[in-house]
Amino acid sequence: MKAGVLALVFLLCHSSSLQDAETPDPKFDVSQEIVQLHDRVTRLKEDLKVMEKNNAALRMRLAAANVELKNLKEPPKIAFSAALTHPVGNYNVDITLVYTKVITNVGRAYNAVTGIFTAPLNGSYYIRFTSCDNTDSHGMAIDLYKNNEKMNGLSKYSNGFMTYFSGGLVMQLEAGDVVYTKLPANSKLYDDANNRTTFSGFLVFPM
Ligand SMILES: *[C@@H]1O[C@H](CO)[C@@H](O)[C@H](O)[C@H]1NC(C)=O
Ligand SMILES: *[C@@H]1O[C@H](CO)[C@@H](O)[C@H](O)[C@H]1NC(C)=O
Repeated sequence: MKAGVLALVFLLCHSSSLQDAETPDPKFDVSQEIVQLHDRVTRLKEDLKVMEKNNAALRMRLAAANVELKNLKEPPKIAFSAALTHPVGNYNVDITLVYTKVITNVGRAYNAVTGIFTAPLNGSYYIRFTSCDNTDSHGMAIDLYKNNEKMNGLSKYSNGFMTYFSGGLVMQLEAGDVVYTKLPANSKLYDDANNRTTFSGFLVFPM
């Protein structure tokens, strides 16, 4: 149909230029029309590409907004506490403390086999520990780590029976960050059935 119209236009144009060769009407210059149409199609294709890109960006923003909405509607519940069950140390290297007695593990972000808490989402978390010592040999000490970064380290050199110390920090964690405690070399900690040496944390708010 379009080709037929074009052919008709061409014929009209051709015959009119035959009849009136001295004043060709530029309105009926078919090849010019085709060039212009071609340019328009090229520009439309470029516009379409830009729109597709914008569309993909919008889809990603929508997905992120949906996650935020879900977090608002039902805030994620992350909270754990775990304890040692027996004395540890001293060793001649630092070791990661594994609190095998799980007291609470809502959201299952604490791993009782490795002693490591893995943040399941971006947010501010309150992480804390309480440590006990119960003999006269060596000192007591503990270090708190975020990934490979030591966040704080406490120690006590004057030894005694049932001495305790505690520490806690609010930490900005990204999904996948890990938090754990280490027993530094040449120190020791004590526990029995009484949950004296514990590691705890919870999500204060997602971010
Ligand atoms: C978490 O935070 C990091 C750094 O601010 C950001 O790159 C990442 O997109 C965030 N992840 C989520 C799921 O919001
Ligand atoms: C230690 O924690 C366990 C697990 O929650 C609990 O059953 C037990 O009663 C606690 N022990 C003491 C002495 O509080």
